[in-house]
Amino acid sequence: MVREWDARTASSAEIASLLDTLNAVLAADLPQDPPWQRSSLREYLTEVMPGQRRISWVAQAEPRGDGSHGDILGQVHVLLLGDIGVLEVLVHPSVRRTGLGRELVRVAGHRVYQEGFSSIGVEVVGDTPAVGFYESLGFVREYVETRSVLDLSTVDWADLTGMAGGVGAGYHLEFHPDGPPDELIEAYARAKAEVRDVEDGELRPSSYDAQRLRDSLDCLHRRGMRPYIVLALHEQTGEVAGLTEVVVPAQHPTRADQYDTIVAQDHRGYGIDRAIKARMLLELRSAAPELTEVQTWNAQANEAMLKVNAELGYRPDRDWCEYSVDVGELVHRLDASR
Ligand SMILES: CC(C)(COP(=O)(O)OP(=O)(O)OC[C@H]1O[C@@H](n2cnc3c(N)ncnc32)[C@H](O)[C@@H]1OP(=O)(O)O)[C@@H](O)C(=O)NCCC(=O)NCCS
Repeated sequence: MVREWDARTASSAEIASLLDTLNAVLAADLPQDPPWQRSSLREYLTEVMPGQRRISWVAQAEPRGDGSHGDILGQVHVLLLGDIGVLEVLVHPSVRRTGLGRELVRVAGHRVYQEGFSSIGVEVVGDTPAVGFYESLGFVREYVETRSVLDLSTVDWADLTGMAGGVGAGYHLEFHPDGPPDELIEAYARAKAEVRDVEDGELRPSSYDAQRLRDSLDCLHRRGMRPYIVLALHEQTGEVAGLTEVVVPAQHPTRADQYDTIVAQDHRGYGIDRAIKARMLLELRSAAPELTEVQTWNAQANEAMLKVNAELGYRPDRDWCEYSVDVGELVHRLDASR
């Protein structure tokens, strides 16, 4: 049975059952990834940025004899943002290849279509069943990144201390758990916006303004994900010359996620990227002692960042792909195949 489901009001037993399915999926498809924990899982599933909406459905086994809901064997949710819907689908390995994944996408696709969105995007992990699944539904690969993982037990900390100190004169580094301090929010947002504009190849008003940054930090906190940042400040101008962001999620606190690392155009060539990333790892050693790994995603063309990551000890792990599909075509295809 597939039904619309709201994590906000779901019973604790349902949240626990969804967690079991998620961990069974990870064990089958990404066995090196740490299993997820219950902490803040409900918040992770419900909290969104202003202007976004997340709609979910679950596939449940028959109710048990005592009347309680059966196990959650599959889940789909779609995050509606801007003009696209971002899809995530999970099917327990014990019930795969029975058409459940296709049915979950059909239900979500219909809603996205009714809501007037034209396109659906999805992240697909290389070398997992999801590749064949989405391709069979007409999704097309738009973009591929490489995920790399750093095992902190392999890090040469003395070496790293040298790297962290290797920044050119005129800059100093600062570590801020929980995000940039209020007096630096504007400069921080400017650094992010500048690089976005340049890297998008066009000049347009960036959404990376101070308010959006505050909203996104606030959203991370509500979802149980703690951000840490290291900044390189240009002493002469007070500008943020570089920044790196790592998030430690309560749901898998032994493996952190690297978010943006940015060095502003005028400040490239002074060793800032290597220094801020090295400093971050040194700080996390005491700030987040439970951490054993950090994962990061990079465009395959971003040779400079890949080189720095290799020096730090990151090892390439998987392709991480973005696929998309036209919603009208998807709905048509899935209805026709019923
Ligand atoms: C991808 C996934 C949703 C597919 O669910 P499913 O219920 O097994 O899919 P369906 O039975 O609806 O399959 C529909 C079609 O997709 C294709 N497909 C599904 N699994 C496939 C596989 N392993 N290889 C090739 N094609 C596949 C087939 O064409 C299939 O039709 P068929 O069985 O008639 O040949 C499921 O494997 C899953 O949950 N994967 C994890 C996804 C994820 O997000 N993971 C994140 C952490 S890794």
